[in-house]
Amino acid sequence: MPVRVGEFLLMRHLGRGGMGSVYGAWDPMLHRAVAIKVMLSPEGQPMPDWASLESEARSAAQLNHPHVAQVYNFGYHRQQPYLVMELVRGHQLDEFMTPDEPMDARFLFGLALQVVDGLSQASERNLLHSDIKPENIMIAPKGGAKLVDFGLSGAAGTGSAAAGKIVWGSPYYVAPERLQRKPASIRSDMYSLGATMYHALTGKTPFTGDNPKDVMMARLSTKPEPLRSLRPDLPPEAEALISRMMAVEPGLRHPTYGSLAADLRRLIDIMGGPVDVSDFAVRRFGGGAGTSTARFRAISRNAARRTPAVRNPTGDLRTQSTRAVLVTGELTTRKSIGRIVGVVLAVMALGGAIAFAVWVMKQRSELAAAAEVPAKTAVAP
Ligand SMILES: Nc1ncnc2c1ncn2[C@@H]1O[C@H](COP(=O)(O)OP(=O)(O)OP(=O)(O)O)[C@@H](O)[C@H]1O
Ligand SMILES: [Mg+2]
Repeated sequence: MPVRVGEFLLMRHLGRGGMGSVYGAWDPMLHRAVAIKVMLSPEGQPMPDWASLESEARSAAQLNHPHVAQVYNFGYHRQQPYLVMELVRGHQLDEFMTPDEPMDARFLFGLALQVVDGLSQASERNLLHSDIKPENIMIAPKGGAKLVDFGLSGAAGTGSAAAGKIVWGSPYYVAPERLQRKPASIRSDMYSLGATMYHALTGKTPFTGDNPKDVMMARLSTKPEPLRSLRPDLPPEAEALISRMMAVEPGLRHPTYGSLAADLRRLIDIMGGPVDVSDFAVRRFGGGAGTSTARFRAISRNAARRTPAVRNPTGDLRTQSTRAVLVTGELTTRKSIGRIVGVVLAVMALGGAIAFAVWVMKQRSELAAAAEVPAKTAVAP
């Protein structure tokens, strides 16, 4: 018997990310397949404030856009929140990315345009995505890009338990202002999309490091290698666009999604016009016209990622997760940042105490000197 979460039957474990596990499931009421993300509190961390997640899910559910995976429902299973959403039958953008084979730029810019369109509609409802990365951009064989996980990272970072302590985001793509605990805006999502595009085009992440902390901090002190030194086939306008999207100062990025979309369209035109994104994806991987969803799935170059179907459930959803969790490192990094801040504050406090002690001693000797002066002056005449 499959595990039930609410009225939904879990059929297949699709993977695990930083915030929980995702399952392919069946809605017995509406007779349709859905995806369910069961949220898990990160080990050793304060319990996120699920109420903010609930409100974010409610806002995301208002979104109805062809390039955003629709949110259907939200509920709790044994105190663990779960989100029911459109099951995207496709592949993540990262599955199309290889270090040795450059990605077709017109395909990528076409995808980016679809993503920007989804983000733009969301921004009209004051919704930020907050975790744009290749893993959260899925490509369906029909319909192109589908953004998943709208607003979830932002919500997890704003709850009362998490506020001030946690910045959810992925080290390679997170905007610098979010690391600096400055307000996030649509420009933070633009940065993450720019970093995602850089990675997709070059096969290299814009910043590297031995650990998540180094990767995150690199964007505050270094610049990514110029795009065209890795992709000389691209026009200078492509490098200019991505550099602008990835400007450290948010004010230097595009002011609106409209202006970003206009730049993307201009770039696509310079490069010879648009390609049909979903058709291109299928052809690129050998499917040919009319490729079925099943065939499309079969051409995944990342079959190893697939996890076994949920069988013999133990009832404990945590034990069924098999995928590596990137966010653990991020949380460690947050701890390290906290430690650095703690050390800096301690040094400042110590410095302050020493300065105060010196000042007190100086005052005392001045008072003593002042006390002596009248006696001397009184004697002098
Ligand atoms: N709506 C969906 N339809 C189909 N598959 C999905 C859906 N949402 C997520 N998945 C898949 O489930 C797996 C786990 O996704 P999850 O979002 O938990 O991980 P992630 O994106 O790597 O990390 P993060 O928690 O930072 O978003 C991924 O392989 C993803 O492609
Ligand atoms: Mg995700």
